[in-house]
Amino acid sequence: MIPPKPISRPDRVSLWRYLRLFRRDILSAQPERLYGAWMAEFRTPFFRSYLANDPALVQTILRDRPRDFPKSDRIGEGLRPLLGQSVFLTNGPVWDHQRRIIDPAFERGRLTQSLPAMWEAGQAMVARVLDQIGKGTEIEIEEIASHAAADVIFRTLFSIPIDDEIAAQVFHEFRAYQRSQPILNLAAFVPLPRWFPRFHRAETKRAAKRIRALITQLVDQRRHAIADGSAPDDLATRIMTTPDPETGQCFTAAEMLDQVAIFFLAGHETSASALGWALYCCAAAPDWQDRIAQEAATLSDPNDVKRLTTSRDVFRETLRLYPPVPMMVRETTKAETFRKRAIPKAAQLVLSPWHLHRHTKLWDDPDAFDPSRWQSDDTRQSARDAYMPFSAGPRVCPGAGFAMAEGPLLLSLLLRAVEVTPVPGKTPQPVAHLTVRARDGIWLNVRPRRSPDTGTKG
Ligand code: HEM
Repeated sequence: MIPPKPISRPDRVSLWRYLRLFRRDILSAQPERLYGAWMAEFRTPFFRSYLANDPALVQTILRDRPRDFPKSDRIGEGLRPLLGQSVFLTNGPVWDHQRRIIDPAFERGRLTQSLPAMWEAGQAMVARVLDQIGKGTEIEIEEIASHAAADVIFRTLFSIPIDDEIAAQVFHEFRAYQRSQPILNLAAFVPLPRWFPRFHRAETKRAAKRIRALITQLVDQRRHAIADGSAPDDLATRIMTTPDPETGQCFTAAEMLDQVAIFFLAGHETSASALGWALYCCAAAPDWQDRIAQEAATLSDPNDVKRLTTSRDVFRETLRLYPPVPMMVRETTKAETFRKRAIPKAAQLVLSPWHLHRHTKLWDDPDAFDPSRWQSDDTRQSARDAYMPFSAGPRVCPGAGFAMAEGPLLLSLLLRAVEVTPVPGKTPQPVAHLTVRARDGIWLNVRPRRSPDTGTKG
């Protein structure tokens, strides 16, 4: 099965047309040849950027010399009002300090403590969907996935479900923030010249302020609960009580606020994108959907997530075809030579999971949805060289293990309760917003699965 792929632009277009395409969607703004290229250069009057698509280059930039290739300040252009000094945006000693505190909370052993909360969020999602569909109807799945992923974050981070008043407000404000942010793609990937006016539009700033005020309440409440010994053992408590092993300093309330903002954003937008596409792929590949439902029939406990091998292969394959973070940007700090090409200082380097995961010379049948490839030895090399949905190296996503438990679990819980089929005439078209989404949403026909186990008990 070949699921939808954006149509590439013609090889040569004017700068003006390129910028217009870029503004609409960074995926379809690129030429087809990038799927077979090792490197490409984008030259415009304002900037030069280079796509590094060669596994050896990716290794140099992300794993071997990450400090020589920091995140550029420009990445934060659209996000800074919301994220402040979040770990997503910082570099150098500040970033080191932040990761030393955050990483232990996501270690594998501690992750199992988050599984019951993920399970509860999954059950709540199933109940909402069954309620919404009745005997069966067409629904928009991205909305369901966003709601469920936000619920997972609130439950695992602060031990509150999304129906909690503050949680619900944060969720709605985040949506407003994203809607008010169309400039984000352009600002992050096409560095604007310094003189170019910045668009932190009034509404974007107001939404960021409202979100930060709400998160401040959550952090304050938690600080008091930690002080009086009544705090639950969740991600927030772990992060707020872990000192940096090198300096002995814990996060201040202000630092914690910035980190909570990125956990919401990075943790729910990405997981929601992946779950939405995984459900679409399952609708379009009913044999895989049935296998997941069968495997899920025996789920009885959050720790069963380990046994969900089919679901995990489907989720991995979805992350290959629709990596929620399609591209990442770094900056050179000195002149470099890449593949015999001279790269100047302060050039933008684009790393593209989107192109690497579909590289014609690195994958067999790259555009096909084939979860069985993850059980084949032939895939090992491609997986090592050309698969990085969570990035790689020291700056790898700290939530990777968390997401690989959450995604298969939610997928399995939902598919044992319902059957999904594509809606004729509504094939979703992938576009890159903050994450890879469908231009007009992902519409599926959903009806209760005809089996004795509806998935609502457990
Ligand atoms: C399927 C789900 C997810 C995907 C595909 C994903 C992917 C990524 C990628 C590619 C990056 C690197 C971005 C860059 O370097 O420019 C990243 C960073 C990050 N992710 Fe995730 N992520 C996911 C889920 C999560 C979750 C659940 C959390 C937290 C609960 C999380 C927290 C973060 C944070 C804090 C960073 C910044 C790390 C740093 O810059 O040091 N992510 N993620």
